[in-house]
Amino acid sequence: MLETKNNLSSEFLRITEAAAIACAHTIGQGDRHHSDLVATEAMRKTMDGVDMTGRIVIGEGERDEAPMLYIGEEVGRREIGSTPIDIAVDPLEGTNLCANDAPNAIAVLAASERGGLLHAPDIYMDKIVVGPSSKGTLDLDAPVKDNLATIGRCLGLRVKDLRIVVLDRPRHEKLITDIRNTGARIKLITDGDLSAGINAAVHGTGIHALMGIGGAPEGVITAAAMRCINGEILARLKVNKDTDKERMAKMGITTPDRIYRTEDLAPGNNIVFAATGVTSGDLIKGVQFFDGYTRTESLLMSTEPKQLRFVDTIHLGAEKSAPIQLSPRI
Ligand code: FBP
Repeated sequence: MLETKNNLSSEFLRITEAAAIACAHTIGQGDRHHSDLVATEAMRKTMDGVDMTGRIVIGEGERDEAPMLYIGEEVGRREIGSTPIDIAVDPLEGTNLCANDAPNAIAVLAASERGGLLHAPDIYMDKIVVGPSSKGTLDLDAPVKDNLATIGRCLGLRVKDLRIVVLDRPRHEKLITDIRNTGARIKLITDGDLSAGINAAVHGTGIHALMGIGGAPEGVITAAAMRCINGEILARLKVNKDTDKERMAKMGITTPDRIYRTEDLAPGNNIVFAATGVTSGDLIKGVQFFDGYTRTESLLMSTEPKQLRFVDTIHLGAEKSAPIQLSPRI
């Protein structure tokens, strides 16, 4: 565990909770940029009170385009002797989901010792995410039908019983056809392939894999989560524009065609992953506001020790609040 004088994993939880609560006030307001800004500001502010020498390796963009939580920004109290940490953040994953009050918007970060998370530019990435049973069995370049047959075999399911999550985008037309041709079912999502990837690696969500092209930053954070729960992501950066190769090179990536496995994207020995629900999703509930208090649900995972915690937090204001409602939950 990334331990210092303070327990950093509970500090990370505090950071994602603050971001989730802040942007939850904007749910359904239809302004995704505003929701993102509010989450980013809250995350940045809370981070600065943490006793660490943090460095953002995946953030809100490059310095000239993001006023805070930009790649390379130093965060935390940065006192002499405090732990050096690399941090990948997505203050609001699923900006549209929050703006439209749709499920699965989360505030999320992953952290590790220095060098433990790939510095990936904010470009696209081709991904397959699966749970522990299929780890080590798939090939990103194999035909879709072969990968689905393998996933089915590993899970003890018929291919037609598999349910695969794909982002609903025109670029996925062929992928969707290929999946449907096998008889497998597809869950098309409008946004949020990070939480969808985690769902694919957890038994009982009814999702068996995530396939397709989404953001590279989300891919690295997914890899951090997979390290904690023994799942797998296979990925390759997508070069769409001339500038993409330059952006990769700036981050030290010289082999654009490389296929990354989980351990390549998140090689750290000490990884912590924290996500707090903004809107309710398959694994965690969204923020709930009550008279005088707020309730959040989070997923906190680590590689050292390898554990996953569901954290239900009640945040009481300074003033008088209504009695805390323990159950039933909404
Ligand atoms: P934002 O939170 O930045 O809006 O990203 C949401 C998301 O759906 C990601 O989950 C996904 O990886 C990416 O966008 C896909 O990008 P695009 O919308 O350009 O297809």
